[in-house]
Amino acid sequence: ISRKGSTLVREIHEKQSSNKSRQRFWELAGSKLGDILGVEKTAEQIDADTAVVGEDGEIDFKEEAKFSQHLKKGEAVSDFAKSKSIAEQRQYLPIFSVREELLQVVRENQVVVVVGETGSGKTTQLTQYLHEDGYTIGGIVGCTQPRRVAAMSVAKRVSEEMDTELGDKVGYAIRFEDVTGPNTIIKYMTDGVLLRETLKDSDLDKYRIVVMDEAHERSLNTDVLFGILKKVVAQRRDFKLIVTSATLNAQKFSNFFGSVPIFHIPGRTFPVNILWSKTPVEDYVEGAVKQAMTIHITSPPGDILIFMTGQDEIEAACYALAERMEQMVSSSKKAVPKLLILPIYSQLPADLQAKIFQKAEDGARKCIVATNIAETSLTVDGIYYVIDTGYGKMKVYNPRMGMDALQVFPVSRAAADQRAGRAGRTGPGTCYRLYTESAYLNEMLPSPVPEIQRTNLGNVVLLLKSLKVENLLDFDFMDPPPQDNILNSMYQLWVLGALNNVGGLTELGWKMVEFPLDPPLAKMLLMGEQLGCLEEVLTIVSMLSVPSVFFRPKDRAEESDAARERFFVPESDHLTLYNVYQQWKQHDYRGDWCNDHFLHVKGLRKAREVRSQLLDILKTLKIPLTSCWPDTDIVRKAICSAYFHNAARLKGVGEYVNCRNGMPCHLHPSSALYGMGCTPEYVVYHELILTTKEYMQCATAVEPQWLAELGPMFFSVKESDTSLLEHKKRQKQEKTAMEEEMENLKKVQAEVERES
Ligand code: CDP
Ligand code: MG
Repeated sequence: ISRKGSTLVREIHEKQSSNKSRQRFWELAGSKLGDILGVEKTAEQIDADTAVVGEDGEIDFKEEAKFSQHLKKGEAVSDFAKSKSIAEQRQYLPIFSVREELLQVVRENQVVVVVGETGSGKTTQLTQYLHEDGYTIGGIVGCTQPRRVAAMSVAKRVSEEMDTELGDKVGYAIRFEDVTGPNTIIKYMTDGVLLRETLKDSDLDKYRIVVMDEAHERSLNTDVLFGILKKVVAQRRDFKLIVTSATLNAQKFSNFFGSVPIFHIPGRTFPVNILWSKTPVEDYVEGAVKQAMTIHITSPPGDILIFMTGQDEIEAACYALAERMEQMVSSSKKAVPKLLILPIYSQLPADLQAKIFQKAEDGARKCIVATNIAETSLTVDGIYYVIDTGYGKMKVYNPRMGMDALQVFPVSRAAADQRAGRAGRTGPGTCYRLYTESAYLNEMLPSPVPEIQRTNLGNVVLLLKSLKVENLLDFDFMDPPPQDNILNSMYQLWVLGALNNVGGLTELGWKMVEFPLDPPLAKMLLMGEQLGCLEEVLTIVSMLSVPSVFFRPKDRAEESDAARERFFVPESDHLTLYNVYQQWKQHDYRGDWCNDHFLHVKGLRKAREVRSQLLDILKTLKIPLTSCWPDTDIVRKAICSAYFHNAARLKGVGEYVNCRNGMPCHLHPSSALYGMGCTPEYVVYHELILTTKEYMQCATAVEPQWLAELGPMFFSVKESDTSLLEHKKRQKQEKTAMEEEMENLKKVQAEVERES
């Protein structure tokens, strides 16, 4: 599978920088698109306009003839959701037909594996059935999700189905956000949240039953939970566990818990016609946009779902679609049907995410452009056409960078089939694969590599150590991580001072576990305590835990850059973040102030929430807030103590090399450090991001002695450096000695003159 990167994404980026506004993109991608572009149109007109799109470079699909035949027979989108009450919708789901049998199996067994097609109702219905069957009398029904977006949106849906306020009977908890209350009996949460709860309560006493949902995703936290919940099951006879899976991992899950029953929810899916690209597609973003336009113009009603790898591509695709629709509307004399373009990815604000579930108005077609989040976690009804680019982003440990990085990979065959299946939920559908059948058969892995086998395990190691798992290699992993990964992560924790020489948690390590933060950030916080600058570091850590707060609309780049520069603290991007937060606070946390200064108010508010939650943890640990203001050197030292593994030395203006591995890295053009007059000799950085170059994200100037003092396992003050210092000292001594000599000489001369 070849991938040279999308020229379309680059083009759109350039266009956006010269174009009117990015704000406008949001407007287009949001909900207004239909209103701006669409006019009602008859079927004949659509046919007549067919030639408008796709004259050039159309993707060449096999079975084209068969395909158009199929379309002629295609059914109209059901108006199901619109016409049926919420209760009726519940009864229509496949899981409803087996409700009683399912509950019976759960009553008779402590652990059950439930398998069902995506959309059969596992996530939204199982918890409610369990509630209706009395499992919420003595405890909570918990349901874990690998993704935060899914936890939030599903909880919202279920609260509507149960006609209760979100956060009352039905709630959700994700990192830094707990929307549950004393009445909560059904709790959706990320697997990470439940994992952290096992720290406080290893038997999970408040839960009567836990549904481990989307277990097939094999997220890192889910995999660790498998081992932990297996123990809970053995210890508490009153505890029940349900593991749900969309694919065929079921037998493996069943075996892991000792051959427990597997319950199958009968599927109710329609056939999906698969169309392969005949030749490899160079630019799949462009390819997907073209295909979507062709479908929109030539195919019967039915919504479109496009799978892309990430935000950048999604934004570019949405923009291109909007633009092409506009062009078509203005160039075509006849009316063009409306197209509602809806992006969805995890960083998208929640209100915009919710839009994908809304029904499009009559005559309009929805086109959802999504990451693999729409593969299994979110189900949207009414999709008849899936366009699969064949790629997705995956977190992998990058040994060269010494950290996890999201990288683009071809998806697995299982994922590709899952994507295709999304087109067959409402009626017979079509999936356009923008790759060849031979790539599918020969180049794609049969199923994805579990996260635990490919990412950094720092947090997991810390957590398991605190759960008194002495030897991590003995932990009951379904698929154990490679030994090297464990040892590597242990080494990093040792470097930070969280583990001692024999692999046990240090006092610092025990404290670090308390914080839902990556180990270096937890260390920074605790060094803030030691060095007396907790107040400052707490704010910095909170700001680093949210997406960038700087807003930079491409058409007002200069203005917004100037606004950002006014916040600069020249020796540190971290302190610049602190400064932003402080000023916002001084302006009463006002939203209009943020807008005036090109700051994302949502990001800042989130940082404020994170800050208050971290503060709560500090309070329970009885750690008092201290401040070193205005001595910012102390804050820089605390930052250095947590990030000395990311130290870099100056090589040219803005050009650095990593002190440990010699890898080149660059100061980001937006860095405050350019304001120092000359770029500093040594810096530490928060993380490296790979775009056109390796950029250091968020850097702070540090003194070389600090590196030697705080990271002695990596750095020492060189002989030559010492002698240089001594040399300077000697020079100075010599100079004073010489001056004294001269003075003496003068005195002597004067005396001689007087005497003579
Ligand atoms: O978990 P599973 O994939 O088996 O299905 P589900 O997520 O429980 O979805 C059942 C139904 O609820 C689907 O038809 C979804 O479209 C609908 N749903 C919804 O309308 N809004 C949500 N936020 C979640 C699900
Ligand atoms: Mg589900």
